[in-house]
Amino acid sequence: MTQRKILVTGGAGFIGSNFVHTLLENKSDISITVVDKLTYAGNFRNLERWKDDSRFLFIKSDIADKEDLFSKLEGHNFQEIAHFAAESHVDRSILGPEEFVKTNVLGTFYMLELARELHSAGKLKVFLHVSTDEVFGSLGEDGAFTESTSYAPNSPYSASKAGSDHLVRSYFHTYGMPVITTNCSNNYGPYHFPEKLIPLMILNCLQGKPLPVYGKGENIRDWLFVKDHCLAIDMAIQKGKYGETYNIGTRNEKNNLEIVELICSLMDKRHPEGAPHNRLITFVKDRPGHDFRYAIDPSKIEKELGWTPKYSFEKAMEETVDWYINNQDWWKEILSGSYESYYEQQYKGR
Ligand code: NAD
Ligand code: TYD
Repeated sequence: MTQRKILVTGGAGFIGSNFVHTLLENKSDISITVVDKLTYAGNFRNLERWKDDSRFLFIKSDIADKEDLFSKLEGHNFQEIAHFAAESHVDRSILGPEEFVKTNVLGTFYMLELARELHSAGKLKVFLHVSTDEVFGSLGEDGAFTESTSYAPNSPYSASKAGSDHLVRSYFHTYGMPVITTNCSNNYGPYHFPEKLIPLMILNCLQGKPLPVYGKGENIRDWLFVKDHCLAIDMAIQKGKYGETYNIGTRNEKNNLEIVELICSLMDKRHPEGAPHNRLITFVKDRPGHDFRYAIDPSKIEKELGWTPKYSFEKAMEETVDWYINNQDWWKEILSGSYESYYEQQYKGR
């Protein structure tokens, strides 16, 4: 059997680490190299279980530092690149957009240049760019984003992702590169950095802290379980058509208050000493330029690649809440800040 040699950027983050787990748990004929800068959102603990596995290699590098990136990846022959690395939090992009432009735009450009070298040498099979539905802007009450929806990004985060999507597209049209872009809706699941809605609410429930809901909690997101997303990405890598984009979602729209109320009721059963957790809900000042609604129409990936989700929202939310309850060391290390030095302390020089 031919071995798949995959480069995963941003593999120490939330979705990237779930993607590494999905592949290494299910496939033996594979080798994965993760390149990650280990920003505040990257955590080597997320990948720790694979550190002695011969199919896994970790390289610490910044995709926006061309010299460092190219020198560390020189001589590696990847057939597949799954590009997850990004600055990913909208609120941070409002406070400081520069890192978003550097990593998401410039970093994607350098990744494409690296891929172009592999393509010229006849080695690259596919460059899969992981993007977001936020590039399409905000929806009103009706309709859903399709692959032909016009781009209308509203935050520095989504604008930087839109820029990266356009660069990826251009490498197909200009250089004939085997690129594919996926645009997905909001993910949830294990290893989610606790600044995003779902993990933040779970951890605040466990700690008896206020649950800050922006505005009236009426904004709508279309929630996708991270394990379904990872399977869809792998399918797009293997079966997707070059130059195409695929929307990934599971028709699962909820407003923020519904999500927070659901987390509270799941916590009431599991953590009765804090019940009722919805007493902690606190309405706070709205996010500037807060997109009202996102919704994905996943018909294309369903019809053309035969993708269907495996997990139900109810079960996957239970699994998610249970994961944070059962992995308190993981999040306590993050909240204490000590995770940031963990890789350097343990693995320097490996
Ligand atoms: P994350 O913030 O959890 O992880 C990002 C990872 O990228 C981290 O490990 C970080 O260290 C790494 N990274 C950041 N800058 C880097 C750089 N300059 N060089 C190398 N590595 C760098 O993000 P996530 O939620 O896992 O998102 C992964 C991808 O999916 C992103 O491209 C994001 O835009 C996209 N996406 C995420 C969601 C979601 O709901 N989380 C939804 C749609 C799209
Ligand atoms: P988030 O998880 O930051 O993802 P995104 O902004 O990329 O959609 O936020 C999801 C929704 O939850 C969004 O409408 C903002 C809202 N939100 C809150 O109400 N309170 C919070 O503390 C956070 C982090 C988000």
